[in-house]
Amino acid sequence: MENRSLGRGRVSVPVIGLGTWQRLEAAAAAGRHRELIEAGIAAGVRLIDTSPMYGAAERLLSDALDGHREQVFIADKVWTPSAPEGTAQLSRAVDWYGGRVDLMQIHNLVAWQAHLPMLEAARDRGLVSLIGATHYSPAAFGELAVVMGTGRIDAIQVPYNPVHREVERTILPLAEDLGLGVLLMRPLGEGQLMRRPPTPAQLAPLRPFGVATWAQALLKWGLSDPRVHCSLTATAQPGRLTESAAAGSTPWFGPAERAYVQRLATTA
Ligand SMILES: NC(=O)c1ccc[n+]([C@@H]2O[C@H](COP(=O)([O-])OP(=O)(O)OC[C@H]3O[C@@H](n4cnc5c(N)ncnc54)[C@H](OP(=O)(O)O)[C@@H]3O)[C@@H](O)[C@H]2O)c1
Repeated sequence: MENRSLGRGRVSVPVIGLGTWQRLEAAAAAGRHRELIEAGIAAGVRLIDTSPMYGAAERLLSDALDGHREQVFIADKVWTPSAPEGTAQLSRAVDWYGGRVDLMQIHNLVAWQAHLPMLEAARDRGLVSLIGATHYSPAAFGELAVVMGTGRIDAIQVPYNPVHREVERTILPLAEDLGLGVLLMRPLGEGQLMRRPPTPAQLAPLRPFGVATWAQALLKWGLSDPRVHCSLTATAQPGRLTESAAAGSTPWFGPAERAYVQRLATTA
């Protein structure tokens, strides 16, 4: 798996990360959350994204990381309009993840003006390594650009897949100019892009790029943009995580292969 450097060269992360929205709880319901995390680590997935918005996911992740914390880069979030609750969320995350959070993001920009000074103080104290901001909606990208332009964050997290490409307009060029880390959410469109996968014959031209499945094609499509540092995919199924992790290696797609995957995604 390839590593890319994030936070203006301060840390290096593998390009495939694991998201925990809904799927870590689903894995736990099947008694498989530890197996999922262990399968990810074995396949080279070493960045895991979570949030207080994701039900029991932060706690389940902490539980599953038993003995593995130092192998994993934790991307957690604050998600509350309340400044005191934001401080409490950080404090809980620090307790869950062995005294520090590697990347603490402001989820959906909620109360970012209130949380940013608190996160900067936490970074000064060594409780947080990097600060980030996320949003899922193109309607909020103007505000996200303002936050990026403050120079006070290290990374962003935004949606990007062959049918949702709004970040190409302003957010990715700005992130590149500012040297910000870029985490992708929804590389499989929350699973919707997996509903009618192309046939094996349609995927055959991607074989020389190490792509055997549609999920790998979609993940490799996002990571073939060099402005992207890590693609966060979510699954409850350990075998699928191993499959997806295999998309995190060279060779990357060129413009022709990216255009081909876009055509497959829009005609599926
Ligand atoms: N505002 C925000 O900050 C924000 C918003 C959205 C997402 N996120 C983050 O980004 C992460 C990723 O986004 P996402 O959850 O939408 O992920 P996604 O990877 O685009 O979609 C996940 C869905 O795809 C299915 N899937 C995963 N791997 C598969 C495979 N190899 N083959 C077939 N199906 C597969 C999963 O089902 P199975 O479990 O059945 O495999 C799940 O339903 C989230 O978990 C979260 O951490 C952040």
